[in-house]
Amino acid sequence: MSYFGFLRRFKSAQFKGRSLRKISLFIGCFLSIVLVSWVVMAQSAPVVLRVLVPAPDAPPLTGIVQAFERQNPHIRIELVEGPNATNLVEDLYTSAFLLGDSPYDLINMDIVWTPKFAAAGWLMDLSDRVKPDELARFSPVDVEGGRYEGRLYRLPMRSDVGLLYYRKDLLEAAGLQPPETFDDLMKISKILQEQDKVPWGYVWQGRQYEGAVAMFVEVLKGYGGFWIDPKTDAIGLDRPEAIQAINFLRSTINEGISPPGVTTYQEEDTRRFFQSGQAAFLRSWPYVWTLANAEESKLRGKVGIQPMVHAAGKESGACLGGWGLGISKTTAHPKEAWKAVQFFTSVDPLRDFVLKEGYTPSIWQFFNDPEMVSRYNHFPQMQEVVNNAVLRPPIAQYAQASDILQRYLSAALTDRMSPEEAMQRASGETRRLLGVKG
Ligand code: GLC
Repeated sequence: MSYFGFLRRFKSAQFKGRSLRKISLFIGCFLSIVLVSWVVMAQSAPVVLRVLVPAPDAPPLTGIVQAFERQNPHIRIELVEGPNATNLVEDLYTSAFLLGDSPYDLINMDIVWTPKFAAAGWLMDLSDRVKPDELARFSPVDVEGGRYEGRLYRLPMRSDVGLLYYRKDLLEAAGLQPPETFDDLMKISKILQEQDKVPWGYVWQGRQYEGAVAMFVEVLKGYGGFWIDPKTDAIGLDRPEAIQAINFLRSTINEGISPPGVTTYQEEDTRRFFQSGQAAFLRSWPYVWTLANAEESKLRGKVGIQPMVHAAGKESGACLGGWGLGISKTTAHPKEAWKAVQFFTSVDPLRDFVLKEGYTPSIWQFFNDPEMVSRYNHFPQMQEVVNNAVLRPPIAQYAQASDILQRYLSAALTDRMSPEEAMQRASGETRRLLGVKG
């Protein structure tokens, strides 16, 4: 190679080296800028807490969620709408947990889920985070519903009790008193139906799902019976009271008081039925009050509310329901999740929530709070009902026990099995589930 040739090559290599250096410098700067902006963005992007709720519960929750997000701009709550039936929502949470890390940070829990979720180890133990005076704000039964084996896993947002709604306007016009007993309810229904005041007498939740179990424990209590006594492990389903309870429900259909479709109805089906003026009586939860009295409701101001009817000489039974919050053990955001739970279960946010939605309060003082009572004058009476409400058994195998009852109750209500046979089988399966002899 000539001297000049060598010089040319040397210079061009020098040039290439320089431009390579420049290019790498440029790429380096670019990547650092991307990295820094990514870190900054990641720091300022809000933490998202996901929670699965039954679909009808999502709209009422938006107000309190927005209030929380205004106070905590770095946290977002994503309400994921699940099915209407609580047991189907529970199934979704269960499969999410069984598949590994739950995609939900907050667990919006029906009162009957706590023992199972806690026993499975899916929930954070909140016992040491809540001071006794903070717990004392809530109705004791609602706090109990969040405990399992002495530890606390759920804080109550709202309570719930089954009640009887009636058409005050129709009863008053006919000069009739609200019913006290199952017989009264049947008689009044027949009178109003015969007078063509209303096509049907009574609607209740008869579909094969958790709502039917909640409804059934009330009728059962109204005949003096019980389902499972967790203290003694006694099973009450094959006792005469359970058969009487089923016979009462069947008679409402057979005597034309309840529409035959009632065995497929969930809460919202029954509410729409009642609210469209098709029945004189409805068994449901307190959320119905607000909707039945909404401005656009044709029943506004025409509805009365009272404890459930019962057999003569027996006591009224109201099923204790209610929803509260727990935290998934696998959440990546435990600090933010706890902040959310604290907010959603504290007095001021709950005051607005209950005032707007008419839910059964979990905060004890709300039942007699003047502002609450002026809007919901049934609240003081509801406090009594909450106090004496019937608990569904707080056992870890609750979902299976309820599933057994749902299946056999539905078979008996739809005439696929006699009440006696259905309850014999339900008792047998429940005893086997709980490992009880007898
Ligand atoms: C209500 C009650 C809940 C119950 C459910 C049944 O949501 O709060 O406890 O399990 O109804 O449908």
